[in-house]
Order: sequence, then C-alpha cells, then structure tokens
Amino acid sequence: MNLQGKRIVLGVSGGIAAYKSADLASRLVKAGALVDVVMTPAAVQFVAPLTFQALTGRPVRVDMFAPDEDIAISHVALGQSADLMIIAPATANTIAKLAHGMADNLLTTTALAARCPILLAPAMEMHMWQNPATQANMALLRERGMYVIGPAEGRLASGGFGLGRMVEPPEILEEARRIIGLKGDLAGRRLLVTAGGTREALDPVRFIGNRSSGKMGYALAAAARDRGGQVVLVSGPTWLECPRGVERVLVESAQEMYEAVVHWAPGCEALVMSAAVADYRPKVRQEQKIKKTAGELVLELERTPDILGEVARRREEWGALAVLVGFAAETQQVEEYAREKLLRKGLDLIVANDVTAPDSGFEVDTNRVILISRAGSQALPLMTKEEVAHRIWDFVRDQLQASVQGRR
Ligand code: PMT
Repeated sequence: MNLQGKRIVLGVSGGIAAYKSADLASRLVKAGALVDVVMTPAAVQFVAPLTFQALTGRPVRVDMFAPDEDIAISHVALGQSADLMIIAPATANTIAKLAHGMADNLLTTTALAARCPILLAPAMEMHMWQNPATQANMALLRERGMYVIGPAEGRLASGGFGLGRMVEPPEILEEARRIIGLKGDLAGRRLLVTAGGTREALDPVRFIGNRSSGKMGYALAAAARDRGGQVVLVSGPTWLECPRGVERVLVESAQEMYEAVVHWAPGCEALVMSAAVADYRPKVRQEQKIKKTAGELVLELERTPDILGEVARRREEWGALAVLVGFAAETQQVEEYAREKLLRKGLDLIVANDVTAPDSGFEVDTNRVILISRAGSQALPLMTKEEVAHRIWDFVRDQLQASVQGRR
C-alpha cells in the first residue's frame, strides 16, 4: 500500500538474474508504483528493454547518448525525483563502479545523481562475491548508507552452489516497502502485535487450538512496518512468513504468549492483540500419549491468564504504553459484547469481529469489523485484512499524537 504513487527507478545491470527483475518490475507496478527502468548495455544482452517497457508502460532508458533522449533530464532528473532506486541485479562490475563514483553508463550516472535511498540486490558468481575487492566495495557502499538485500545462497548460473543468487522479487518488494516506510507516520514508534491462535497441550501429540491463521496479526505487523513502526510480533504457530524488518517471537501456549507480551510491552507505545488466545487449558498435561479406552474421556480445564487484563492493570506502572487495542471475536450480539470487553479490559479500542460470515474473521484474507472506542463506533465495510490493519494504525497514530500533546 505504501508504494502507491511512489516513483521507483529500477536499475538493471547485466547478469542472468536480470530476467527476475521483469517480475520485480511487474510486482512494483501492481503495488501502484510508477516504475522507470534503466538498463546497462550488458543487461540488454539478457532481457530486451521491450519486456520492461510492456510491464511498466513507460519508456526504458539504456543509452545515455541516444539522440531522441533528453540527456540532461534522464540522467539527473530520474534519480532526483525518485522515492527509491533499486538496482537488481547489481553485478560485481556495477557495484565496483558505484563504490568508486563512476558514471560511465546511464545506470551508474543515475545512481550517482540520485538523492533518494538506493537498494542493491547483488547477484554474481560466488567467487566474485567472496573476492576481497567486491567485499570492500560492498562495505564502502553500506557505510555510505546504501541498503543491501542478499545475495542468497543456492544453485548459481555457473553450475556451482553458494552465495550469489539474487534474492527473489517478493522479498525485494518487501524491503522496498520497509525502506519507503521509514518516513511514515509511525516512524520510530515501538509497537507490539500478537497474532495467531494458541495451542494448549493435552499430551505430547494433542492440543486444544482454534482456527486463527495469523493473517490478521501479520497484516497488522506488515502495515505498521510499512509506516515506519518498529514492530515486535508475538505469534502463535503459523505457516506465514515473518514480514521483513519485523522482530518475531514465536510462542505456543497462552502462558507463553502471556510471558512474551509482559516481557515486551513495557518498552512499547502500543499493543494490538489480534491473537486468538485460549481462555481455557487442560488442567493436567499428560506426560505420555493418552490411550484410548472403552469409556468416555472427561477433560478438566482451567483458566489461562488474561493477557490484556494484566497489561491494562500494569500500563500505568510501565509508563510508555499509551494505546491498548483488543479484538473481540463474536458470533452473536457482536457490538454489545465487544463494547462490554472494551470497558471490562480497560482498552482504548476494540475491534469487533463477526466471525460467522464466510468472508470475515478466521483464515480468510478479508475482514468486516466495527471499531469501538469510548468516543463511539465505526462499522467498516468488507476490506482486506491489510486495509483493516491500516485503519487500526490510523487510530493508534492519532492516540499517540494526542498522548504527546496531553503531556505537553
Ligand atoms: O488469524 P486470522 O485467521 O486472520 O483470524 C483473525 C481473528 C479472527 C483471530 C482476529 O480478527 C480476532 O478476532 N482476534 C481475537 C480473537 C479472540 O480471542 O477474541 P476474544 O473475544 O476471545 O478475546 C478478546 C481479546 O482478549 C482479544 O484481543 C484476545 O487477544 C484477548 N485475550 C483473550 C484471552 C486471553 N486469555 N487473554 C487475552 O488477552
């Protein structure tokens, strides 16, 4: 979302990974960015400029001296009006030129004139990567503030196996989102998010769980990261990958989630609890697998700690924690039950979630929620979980600003 309307210069240098940059260009365009591609003469040996032109819908620049190009505009203005320049793949040759301030083609010239952040995605044969010259060049570029992603380990075009593969386009896109977000409206804010469901063990192989996939919480973490937040994500078991730039703490049971939240919350300014935490757990966890018998099995359950309740009780003592957001997964009287939880748990906002609709709540990518605060409530239409996440962060941002003004 934060790439919408942003100007990205995608520099492509001459390596076999150039074909992956076509996918990257396409993803950037789909994310709403305006993408100008600059290729080195070597890059056009691997992928035709027309490929990028078709994907971005914009002219591709290669030749600094092409008679039909306004040289003064293209090599200076491109890098100066961009929000971000991504060089992917960045070959050893291009990296060396960047490190030494050379400007012998349109890509290196654009980079030298650029005033925006630059992200490098190196790709080369592993010995070229390991070469002290390349390593020294990389150290110099990092020291000067260039962002670097990769290279990754894997099978290389040379047939060998090692470090040198260009990182995959989805990861580069995420890193671009992170960098663009550094100037966002949550920049520098320390935010704690919980996600997923907890598992309460019955024996070594069985547990009591719920249907939470973690999607809502992971969307919250990624959205906050995209706006510059420093996010800690306390997550129950899930197959989802941790959003880049987010610190993830994996837990399993409600007790472990409680301990992680109580550990991280004192240093954070806001907590958003989207996790589906078990309210009850087996009173006894059997050491061995429970054997099947002829009779019925009766389980005795006990309460788990109320995480939000405990945080609300201690927030004064912790000081920094200014905003507390809870979720309420309800199957009936959604707004009424959620409002009761808002007051009982001492929250600033509760996100009332009707989990009976097939397109809302557990596992799906969309959600339909009502945001309820003490000031009133707002029913949101069906949205992606990412959009819901941004609405929640809008509330958190306003509350954080208000709390600073309140202290003045
Ligand atoms: O993960 P997904 O598949 O994307 O699904 C998202 C979701 C449906 C799980 C999410 O949108 C949601 O509604 N999360 C809250 C689920 C829940 O446990 O609701 P609750 O009404 O039981 O709990 C109320 C609040 O108290 C929640 O913020 C919960 O995190 C918190 N809680 C609950 C129990 C407990 N022991 N301690 C708590 O702090």
